[in-house]
Formats: sequence, C-alpha cells, structure tokens
Amino acid sequence: MAIVRESIHGQWSSRWVFILAATGSAVGLGNIWRFPYITGENGGGAFVLIYFVCVIAVGLPIMIGETVIGRRGRQSPVNSLKAIAADEGLSSNWQLLGWLGVLAGFLILSFYSVVAGWSVAYIFSVGAGTFTDATSQVSADEFKALTDSAPRLLWWHSLFMFMTVFVVARGVQGGLEQAVRWLMPALFLLLFGMVGYTMNVGDFNAALSYLFRADFSQVTADTILLALGQAFFSLSLGMGSIIVYGSYLPANTSIPRTIGLVALCDTGVAVLAGLAIFPLVFGFGLEPGSGPGLVFVTLTVAFGQMPGGQLVGALFFVLLAVAGWTSAISILEPIVAWLVEALRWSRHKASVIAGGAIWVLGVGSVLSFNEWADFQPFGKNFFDWSEFLSTSVMLPTGGLLVAVFVGWRMSRASTLTELGLSDGVIYGAWRFLVRFVAPLGVFVVFLNALGLV
Ligand code: PFF
Repeated sequence: MAIVRESIHGQWSSRWVFILAATGSAVGLGNIWRFPYITGENGGGAFVLIYFVCVIAVGLPIMIGETVIGRRGRQSPVNSLKAIAADEGLSSNWQLLGWLGVLAGFLILSFYSVVAGWSVAYIFSVGAGTFTDATSQVSADEFKALTDSAPRLLWWHSLFMFMTVFVVARGVQGGLEQAVRWLMPALFLLLFGMVGYTMNVGDFNAALSYLFRADFSQVTADTILLALGQAFFSLSLGMGSIIVYGSYLPANTSIPRTIGLVALCDTGVAVLAGLAIFPLVFGFGLEPGSGPGLVFVTLTVAFGQMPGGQLVGALFFVLLAVAGWTSAISILEPIVAWLVEALRWSRHKASVIAGGAIWVLGVGSVLSFNEWADFQPFGKNFFDWSEFLSTSVMLPTGGLLVAVFVGWRMSRASTLTELGLSDGVIYGAWRFLVRFVAPLGVFVVFLNALGLV
C-alpha cells in the first residue's frame, strides 16, 4: 500500500544530492581515522575481509531498511517509527528505537567532535611546518602536548561544534544540501590526490599486501565485534542518520540502487584511505598498529620527511576535517528534526540547544585526556566509554532492532512498495538478509563478545 506523506523539513533537490549527503554522512573519521588504525591493530587483511562481509551481509540490508523507514515515515526517526508502527498496527513502543538513536547521537557526536577538532588543529600545525624532520618522539610529544592541554582541546572542539550547528541550523536545502554540494567534490579530489601522491612516495606494494593478504591467526571474537561495530559506524547505521536522510528522499528514487552506490562509495573510501596512509607508514618504516594516534602521531612523521609534506600533510588534515564535518552534520540532524517536530522549536533554536548539550558532553571527552585521565571506571576513561557504548553497543543494538522492524514487523507489501521492487530475487535476497542474517549475525557476535558462546 502506498503511503504518501510530506516532510515538514523539506526534501533533497535530487537523487544525486541524497547520494552526496548520505555518502557525506557515511564517509568520515570512521573511514580515514578509525578504519586504518583498527585494521592496523588487528593484523590487516583478515580484518579487512571480515569487514567486507559485515558490510555486505549486515550493513547494506540494514541501510536499505533504514531508508525505507525514513522515506515511508517522512519524519525524524522517533516519529517515523511511531507513524509506521501505527500504520502497521504495531506497538507504539517501537519509537523507543528512535530514542536509542537520539541517545547514541548525543554520545557519538560528543567524542566525534573532539577528534574532528584534532584534525582541524593539525591543519594548522602541519601547515606551519611543526613536523618538518620530526622524529617519532617529537611527533608523539606534539600530540601529547595537544591532548594534555584542556584549553586547546576545548577550543578546537568548540570550533567544530560551531561549524556543525551552523550548517544544521540553516535547514535541509539551505544548509545540508549546500554543504555537501561543495564539500563532497572537494573531499574526493583531495582523496584521489593523496592516493596518487603516496603511490609514488611511499611503499605502495607493502600497503597492498598488508591490506589484502589475510592472516587469520590474530582474529578473535572481539575482532569480529569490532568489524561489525565499524561497519555500523562507517555506514552511519543504528542511530537514525540514514533514516532522517531517507525522509528527505524524493518519492520516485530507487532505494536499493541508490543505497548500493552509497555503501560502495563508503567502503571504497575506507580502502582508499588505507591506500593513502599505509604506503607512507611502511615506506618510512613506521608502526601500523599504533592505535588511535596512527594518523596524528605516525603519519605526521612521514609528512615531515617527504617532499612537499608540509602542504600535502595539511591537505590530508583538511580532508579529514571535511569528512568529519559532513558526518557530524548527519549525526545532529535526526536530533534537531525531532526537536522541531516534538517541541515546535525553530530549527535554529533546536540546533543551538542540541549542539550546546552535545558540546557539554564533549567536555567530558576533552577532560579524559588530561584533568580526568586517572578516572577510569572498569579500565576505560570517559572518551573510551563514550566510544565503546555508542559504537560497540548502541549502534549494533539499534541496527538489530531496525532489522527486526523492517524484516519481521512491517508487512511484506509495505516494504515491497517502498523499495519499488517486484517480488523477485533481489527483494528475496534483501529480505532474507534483513530477517535472518543481519539479526542473527549481530546477536551471535554480541553473545560471543560477552563470553556466552
Ligand atoms: N559514518 C561516520 C564515519 O564513518 O565517520 C560516523 C557516523 C555518522 C556514525 C553518522 C554514525 C552516524 F549516525
């Protein structure tokens, strides 16, 4: 049954703008900062392979499901779920899934903004030549000097939150759409430029074999949970970003084709980021498994040694900051859309207040690197807890519930209509993945990580 609603927030001007926006959401720190370092910590190729499987078997079907929810509901995730549940005669408790997303969004953006702030800071310090001929020690000291300083971190975190609020406050067509129209082409240009450059300057073959030669000896249940969490994080799933972007999608656009392209771009960018970073890591004899500091501490040593590294390095951090910016916008949007709908606030007011609250939470992450460094309940500081709870717990839980909702609770007729498919192989494959593979996959990995199977 076709249900036609209109979003009060507006609509993307075209399918292509949606592709830019959704790719902008998906491509972020997750691809350029997190994917390379967790790949590095987990032995390279085997992790990459597991990650691909998670994207195709679990991420993609759920991403399609989220877009279906958004476009059918045409509202913020909370209200879209509520409306569809009412259409389908289901419990209104399904809106709690939207609430989980709001909560996850607060948590994610609070630490995301702090890390994105580091990238903005590094545009200036790398551009100023701070790392020219720096040793690993100098580079590590430089990073430590930044993270040790609460005022410096606070400044960059504040600037980044301001940039995010600035765009979201201007609305779907006036803010989000304008931002992605300019920033996404710039992002791709920078990325291709970087890969072209590092292919020549670094050890490209070592990077290729590192990323694609699988060694399963280091793979544990935790590795699989990490790959799954990374797939959710990277595709922006489980918290409503894709639902809300789907709610602005023109009615006649094919969801499977469009989302297929977005997922492909996201995975492609993660691999390209690996191909931009690891040639330098290996070419300059650095350590691939150096953790969250990989691009800040390790890569900057390479920038300091290579020809034109001051400029190329600064551009690399522009790339990272731009990627983070378009993602941060998509984390704030579902929260703001909901505030506008529920409290009838102006978009401007909703953006400033939600952004302000997230900023406050982010101060906790800022302080966890310095003043609160010793406050580590159960071995994790405030930043680590924010990251762990949101990416490894809330996003997979949200994704699991989305899969159950679209796979088991929405009628076959509703999803068929919304996907615009005939009842053939493609629909059958999607439905099988979203009903069985995705929920079971998430569930088993969860149990496994808790030590229960
Ligand atoms: N996908 C973004 C990244 O890879 O950096 C992060 C993100 C955006 C996560 C939006 C979750 C989200 F809802």
